[in-house]
Amino acid sequence: MLLLVFLSCFAVVYAGGGNFGDSCSISDNRLQIGTYQFYSDCNSVTYCAPNNTCAHRGCRKDDFPFGYPQDSDSIPPKCRRGQFCPDEMDVCQEVLSVGSACQMNRDDQCEGPPNFKELEDTTIRGLNVNGSICLNNVCMWANVTEGEGCVVQNTAYIGYTASGEFIDIVSRGNCRVGLYCDAQSLKCFQEKALDEICDADKECSTWNCLASGVCGTDLAFDHRVSSWVYAVVVIGILGGMFGTLVGLFFLHRKQRERERARRLQYWREQNTFHQNLSQMREAARASIMSLPANNSDESHMPMVQSTGHGSSGLRHHFEDDNNMEDYDDSIVNMQQLVEVRQSRDDGRY
Ligand SMILES: *[C@@H]1O[C@H](CO)[C@@H](O)[C@H](O)[C@H]1NC(C)=O
Ligand SMILES: *[C@@H]1O[C@H](CO)[C@@H](O)[C@H](O)[C@H]1NC(C)=O
Ligand SMILES: *[C@@H]1O[C@H](CO)[C@@H](O)[C@H](O)[C@H]1NC(C)=O
Repeated sequence: MLLLVFLSCFAVVYAGGGNFGDSCSISDNRLQIGTYQFYSDCNSVTYCAPNNTCAHRGCRKDDFPFGYPQDSDSIPPKCRRGQFCPDEMDVCQEVLSVGSACQMNRDDQCEGPPNFKELEDTTIRGLNVNGSICLNNVCMWANVTEGEGCVVQNTAYIGYTASGEFIDIVSRGNCRVGLYCDAQSLKCFQEKALDEICDADKECSTWNCLASGVCGTDLAFDHRVSSWVYAVVVIGILGGMFGTLVGLFFLHRKQRERERARRLQYWREQNTFHQNLSQMREAARASIMSLPANNSDESHMPMVQSTGHGSSGLRHHFEDDNNMEDYDDSIVNMQQLVEVRQSRDDGRY
């Protein structure tokens, strides 16, 4: 039945290609085989007029009709209450009284009964429109009570799947809502509840007769999930959030500790370096102070003496220190200067 609703919505979508003013043939108007979509030679914004040319449409059935741009000002109007727009969409017409000819599945073309509030179908199954139904192209009211004679219309639709075509038979009747028209006895029967034996979807109040021959759950509404699913989802979301937070916390703590250890090591190195530098400066100052005031030939002393290894107590001191590798050239220069002075002192004294 959803298929019917779908089809009635898009009945004119796949129209012929005729543009406004092109010639067409009214005798080509038809319902497509298997889908029962309305077809004409004209395109989706025109209809085939009686003079066999494509003319602009005069009404629409849909709020958003196919084929028109969204901001188009040539969209034809919808028909007011008490009127309908036929499949051709040429012009609005007054609803038809009981017994009149109507177009296939266009229940809305038929005038509603006086007790339409009681008879109308409020489900989404499309059993009738406003209490009226178009069966075998005749307007009637869906007012037949249980056990009374009814009219039935079986329509075979062609469905398409990846593996090929299949036939879907839709059976409609003029029984009241809650009853179905049995195709053999042509009498109205009460719809069957869940797990009762059935032959067709229309017999089940859930609109779903399983292949096993019993009424199954309503596929259109079976979207409820039990509360434990919500609980699992909530736990999953919270667990994911806090798991991420805790994971990041430990990851960053490890990084922070590594960083702190590096800084501590750097501070120790710098401290050692600073102390060594102070000691060197002291030693240098002491050796400079101990020089005689008159040593103008100082620059002529050969530098070769400064390369003597192991002679300097300072050098031993530095070599014992593992952090010496990092010291820069200025330290080495300072050290050489001290050695020069000391070796010169040695030579002098
Ligand atoms: C055909 O009929 C339509 C609608 O009645 C009209 O708008 C159009 O002008 C006519 N075309 C010709 C060629 O007569
Ligand atoms: C339903 O049918 C009644 C009786 O014909 C009519 O007065 C009413 O306007 C209709 N309602 C709709 C929504 O078409
Ligand atoms: C039921 O509907 C039919 C038209 O389909 C009408 O002729 C008949 O009078 C209605 N019966 C009742 C009891 O309303």
